Amino acid sequence: MVANMISHSKPTLDADDYRSVMDVLKSGHLVQGEQVAGFEEGISSFVGVRNGVAVSSGTAALHLALIALGAGKGDEVIIPSYVCCALLNAVMYVNAVPVIADIDRATFNIDVDDLKKRITKRTKAIILPHMFGLPADIDEIVSLGIPVIEDCAQSIGAKYQGRYTGSFGVCSIFSFYATKMLATGEGGMILSDDDRFAGIARDLRDYDEKDGYSIRYNYKMTDMQAALGISQLKKLPSFIERRKEVAGLYDRSLRDISFPVAAVPEEREHIYYRYVMPLDDSSGFMEEMLKLEIGCRRPVFKPLHKCLGLSGFPVTDEIFKRAVSIPIYPSLSDDEAHKIAVGIREILS
Ligand SMILES: Cc1ncc(COP(=O)(O)O)c(C=O)c1O
Repeated sequence: MVANMISHSKPTLDADDYRSVMDVLKSGHLVQGEQVAGFEEGISSFVGVRNGVAVSSGTAALHLALIALGAGKGDEVIIPSYVCCALLNAVMYVNAVPVIADIDRATFNIDVDDLKKRITKRTKAIILPHMFGLPADIDEIVSLGIPVIEDCAQSIGAKYQGRYTGSFGVCSIFSFYATKMLATGEGGMILSDDDRFAGIARDLRDYDEKDGYSIRYNYKMTDMQAALGISQLKKLPSFIERRKEVAGLYDRSLRDISFPVAAVPEEREHIYYRYVMPLDDSSGFMEEMLKLEIGCRRPVFKPLHKCLGLSGFPVTDEIFKRAVSIPIYPSLSDDEAHKIAVGIREILS
């Protein structure tokens, strides 16, 4: 990487984080012990849900959530198209049928009207991601009466009507991948108020020392990861504050150059996991930004309907073509954010 390059995303780590991991290494207890139990307690009480089950990734969390819901062959699971393929993979793992829905142009979240049209007698669940840190239409979707798995991989700490995302569905899942809102390297969690549901996920994540054989997984989290997670969780409120500051700086600096950034509906809090700008020439823009040593990305690498060779998702197609994600993370300095805003103005005006 170029020395002065501003990377698109990176974790925000400090001496407390390093120390917490070193302490676990020195203790000699490396996997699914005290630290994992502490991290589960920390995340579940932060979000306000009874049970937390830590696992090795967000994908593993989705997989176990679908099994715990009883999703299997012939069942349909609705997911939006504009999201990473982890959701599609999890549905495929349990041999269920993925049913793809289009998204809302204003928020980049699942389009409720399109979703409703795709419900059938076989719909077993809806996976509802809150994209880029902005809560989706939770109330309307939960009120449809179909089990909702809230996907909070990008939204831990975001609020909907004053309550944290992750506390509305039958369960919720989280990812703590290196560049997520809080980082454990790899890692995930399932939260649920339902003790039986959490018990199934807890049993399935670990295959060892069980009476009676059934298929189980090795989806355990290590204590190094969990210790890092505990340390990062303490800083989550300040991380969110800083992300909002940077988003505010971009909003102010770019106010007069018109492009539609995500609209934030009332009673929702956007925590700016990503700052996404739909532009006329996204590829050309990213190339120009690279010349200024600023890393930008398409916020979704490939929409799910394209992975499946489907058509008929006009809003996803349009946003996929146009959307660019620019750097936003707590360790981004004011100078870097200014440089980015100035670069964008130069390119777009
Ligand atoms: C919305 C969403 N759900 C699930 C995942 C999967 O998480 P992981 O990469 O930890 O498996 C991601 C990861 O990027 C994501 O963005």
